[in-house]
Amino acid sequence: MIAKLENVSKQYQVGDQTIVALEKTTFTLNEGELTLIIGPSGSGKTTLLSLIGCVIYPSTGTLWVDGQEINSLSQNQKAALRLNSIGFVFQNFNLLSPLTAEDNVMVATYS
Ligand SMILES: Nc1ncnc2c1ncn2[C@@H]1O[C@H](COP(=O)(O)OP(=O)(O)OP(=O)(O)O)[C@@H](O)[C@H]1O
Ligand SMILES: [Mg+2]
Repeated sequence: MIAKLENVSKQYQVGDQTIVALEKTTFTLNEGELTLIIGPSGSGKTTLLSLIGCVIYPSTGTLWVDGQEINSLSQNQKAALRLNSIGFVFQNFNLLSPLTAEDNVMVATYS
């Protein structure tokens, strides 16, 4: 199991408004699977990826990443998880255009 979400949601308080960025979501990402996240603009795709990537944390529910329950981890443990287990490949910006796709992926290991 790569990641598991149980009733995970994300809300933002903007002034006196509560914005629901992700409705309660339950699903499991398994190793070896190809998962596509599709939905209209504003439906919460980036929020979902950011939650799984431990860039932001759930407002409700329980999230496991790489077998670890995120709420139970210290800031340092979450930083270690991000460093060792999580990677983002962006579609446009953040890629180095002189490099091949493979070299862009490998660049993190060059130093
Ligand atoms: N930091 C934030 N503060 C307030 N509202 C936010 C924040 N992040 C996201 N939202 C809101 O949550 C909703 C979901 O946003 P999200 O960016 O996850 O959607 P998306 O599916 O990735 O959209 P797109 O297809 O346009 O990339 C939107 O209404 C958005 O305005
Ligand atoms: Mg998005």
